[in-house]
Amino acid sequence: MAAANHPRVLVDGKAVEVMPVSDRGLHYADGLFETIRMCGDKAPLWSRHMARLDRGAVRLGLPAPDLELLAHECTRVSAGRSTSVCKIIYTRGSGGRAYVAPDNPRPLRVVMSREAPPLARIELAVTFCRTPLAISPALAGLKHCGRLEQVLARRELAGSDFGEGLMCDAAGRVIEATSANLFVLHDDIISTPDLAKAGVAGVMRELVMEILADQGCQVSESTLEKHDCRQARALFLCNAVRGIMPVTRLESKDLEVPQLVEKLSCKVETILSGG
Ligand SMILES: Cc1ncc(COP(=O)(O)O)c(C=O)c1O
Repeated sequence: MAAANHPRVLVDGKAVEVMPVSDRGLHYADGLFETIRMCGDKAPLWSRHMARLDRGAVRLGLPAPDLELLAHECTRVSAGRSTSVCKIIYTRGSGGRAYVAPDNPRPLRVVMSREAPPLARIELAVTFCRTPLAISPALAGLKHCGRLEQVLARRELAGSDFGEGLMCDAAGRVIEATSANLFVLHDDIISTPDLAKAGVAGVMRELVMEILADQGCQVSESTLEKHDCRQARALFLCNAVRGIMPVTRLESKDLEVPQLVEKLSCKVETILSGG
């Protein structure tokens, strides 16, 4: 069927590309989002994405999202595409008075689809960004709509050959990359930054920790500083759209990609491909 027959954007279930200018997502970033890799009409990490959205809604005091409706809308916008990325934005909607939220919010849903990037392995050079992440226990872990720090950090990388940047919080602790979580391998320890005060608790990070634990490799959630990354044997980044992204260079230092990371990458690729 021709792509033109399928809506690629739904706003509150309607095939339109407009939303109210009074939406609180626009004014205050008062909302959450999920970016979901689809394989045909299946989303292999669906339940993890929905669990995070649900948890986020509880923390922000939003009504629980209708997960069946969202599943239906994701399938609608992805129709006809063999692989795609479906983005859900779920805001508090309109109303209230300035920062004062409405007593009975009526959330706004945007569900949209784009082509997925290939899962093929990329050679990824990374550096540290100067833009700090705010220390914000109230928002830590959430995939909330306020992403200006990441936008500023990505601007730092413009024109460089660094494909990603690592971000530290205001106290200098390494937290994550601009759009991915970080894992650091030393000789016998695998660590990932603790996200209690900043960062997004990625669904891929959660899956990676489970796969590694199944293989008998314990991952510690720790406080990491820049020098821990600079002294590491290997690093990799991960997110739900690209899977595992081994880092082949940190600043000017070339890094190996250990077998463990190669294997993990294959396993995740199989999962994201619906296998
Ligand atoms: C800032 C940030 N951290 C981490 C992640 C990884 O999250 P997930 O594994 O859920 O894609 C993302 C994904 O876009 C992100 O934007």
